[in-house]
Amino acid sequence: MITQQTIQQILSRIDIIDVVGSFVKLKKRGTNYLGLCPFHNEKTPSFTVSPNKEIYKCFGCGKSGNTISFLMEHEKYSYVEALKWLANRYNVEVEETEVSAEVRAQQQLADSLYILNGFAQKYFSTVLFESTEGQDIGLSYLKERGFNEEIIRKFQIGYCKEERNAFVTVALNNQFNKDYLVKSGLAALRNEELVDNYRGRIIFPVHNTTGKVIGFGARIIKKNDRAPKYINTPENEIYVKSKILYGMYFARQVIDKYNECLLVEGYTDVVSLHQAGIENVVASGGTSLTTDQLRLVKKYTNNLTIVYDGDKAGVKAALRGLDMALEEGLNVKLVLIPDNEDPDSYVNKVGAQAFRDFVAENKKDFIIFQLEVAMQDAGNDSQKKAAVVNQIAETISKVNKAEDFTRQQDYIRQSAQLLKIEEEGLNALVNKFIREKVTKLENKMAAAEPGPPEIPPYEESHPVDTDEGFQLLLKDELQERAVVRSLIEFGLKPWDDHKKVAEHIFEELVDDDLFDNQQLLEVIKTYKLWYDAGLEPTAKNFFYHEDQQMSAIVVSLLEFGYEVSEKWKQKFRLPVPGRDDTYREEVISTLGYLKLRKIKRLIEQNQKDLGLPHSIEDQMVLLQTHQALKQMEKDLLKDLGTVIVR
Ligand code: UTP
Ligand code: MN
Repeated sequence: MITQQTIQQILSRIDIIDVVGSFVKLKKRGTNYLGLCPFHNEKTPSFTVSPNKEIYKCFGCGKSGNTISFLMEHEKYSYVEALKWLANRYNVEVEETEVSAEVRAQQQLADSLYILNGFAQKYFSTVLFESTEGQDIGLSYLKERGFNEEIIRKFQIGYCKEERNAFVTVALNNQFNKDYLVKSGLAALRNEELVDNYRGRIIFPVHNTTGKVIGFGARIIKKNDRAPKYINTPENEIYVKSKILYGMYFARQVIDKYNECLLVEGYTDVVSLHQAGIENVVASGGTSLTTDQLRLVKKYTNNLTIVYDGDKAGVKAALRGLDMALEEGLNVKLVLIPDNEDPDSYVNKVGAQAFRDFVAENKKDFIIFQLEVAMQDAGNDSQKKAAVVNQIAETISKVNKAEDFTRQQDYIRQSAQLLKIEEEGLNALVNKFIREKVTKLENKMAAAEPGPPEIPPYEESHPVDTDEGFQLLLKDELQERAVVRSLIEFGLKPWDDHKKVAEHIFEELVDDDLFDNQQLLEVIKTYKLWYDAGLEPTAKNFFYHEDQQMSAIVVSLLEFGYEVSEKWKQKFRLPVPGRDDTYREEVISTLGYLKLRKIKRLIEQNQKDLGLPHSIEDQMVLLQTHQALKQMEKDLLKDLGTVIVR
């Protein structure tokens, strides 16, 4: 976890214009800045950034947020990743709490691997472009295949010399550690000697979504039946194959923009399509997709189009496990490239426009495709046919209904037509699978622990008084909100010679049950936690809080205007305090009103009790209580009056 001190430092340096401006071209318009919205396609700018409020809003698509939510939305960072990005930009050293020695060692190892890979990538690129061997063998091979220099540089493609240990020597001379050289897969141990692992190969660096090099794919150039075509980085702390899609760093924003991700098999397919201007492409490396990879796609789009060559083995591998994609709510389409071509050779042959047209015209829904393949395999065998019906019903039952309600019905209709069976029958079968899934889920849930008891909404447990003033006090937790707002706005100002406003408020609020809204209470508790830890909490800390609900509630508090106070004033015929110069009075009055509300509730409760049959003694106690409460109410109102008049 990043410490609050670090977060505080980062927040104090955030410049929303600088951050948003590094992704969107902004022009100054009055006090605000204006640009083309990065979240939807537009020709005239309606994306507005306010440096004063530290927020952005698009008047075209309605997206809005603060600096951190911009990074989370635009770069698909997590909250912590966004903070780290900002820390890096503003040179804030990130301090983390609760990091065990083990975790720290892991982080250091990961950092070392990133640095080593970055170094290796630059080395291989230099060799490709500047050494004779690189130019004669590597670069000429790439050019022969039709790759231009611009795309080679963009994907940071390189070349590793045929020599035994050219790279290892340079790396060791640059103080890189032997263990890391092996772990990274860049070097291998042969008879206790460290040698280059990718000798005589073209090097495709693999980037993570922030653009750091996490590994390499090294393609052989010379024909050699004994050596594998590609050598890939072994699994290590930063290279986890099941989570990687090659090219995602270069494709992610285009995928977002076109709301579609094309998936191909190989490195060269990705690079060729990019060169042709088709940039929403990533590669799986020819294996079946994992849930992590599907989720990575889903960060950017729900539409996945698989573009593979028509060879059966590759297609089968692609189809395996794609039911998972349905459960993740992805729309999966499939296009097969004809005539023994792959996307790389096909785009080189027909050109970008024809390629796009081909994909658009031949996209086939994955479920329907699967059904057609299975039907072909089954032929006239009635037993196999029955199995196909069962299989397709199960697949359709996995379509995530929440994402698109009509899709499941469409599939049932289309499949029934293809299978030449009754729609109702297939429908019933699909429902059977859904029921089975639900039952399984319910059993799982029942086995889990019971949740917390439900708290009835306030109205149920406290019938509303008809007294208008009291109604006003109950409404929308206005008093609670006012107290929290005073705390955030004035907490750090002096209360008296000994303490600050925050401390006074904490002393007055020992009673948790003054608050109905647990979220507001949570804000106070969080404030106290930070305050007690020696921090100076401001609205910003809450505004940028990881917990979006907490952030939202504080934003709404600060928007909260003055009419309420005006209403109280009329209702109770009291003057209302001003702001900054009279903050002490405001604190007293907001706390006073909160207590007043509680007393009014107690009075109400007591009056109800009085209406019930009681013994004489009990009746007396209730009456005394009533009088005492009424006196407290009067005193409080008087206090509120004097405070305000003074
Ligand atoms: P391909 O054989 O289709 O390679 O394997 P390619 O990328 O199209 O390369 P070219 O066009 O023949 O030069 C597809 C992908 O499968 C993985 C690689 O990720 C490759 O890009 N693969 C293939 C390996 O990891 N190892 C291999 O030996 C072969
Ligand atoms: Mn190929």
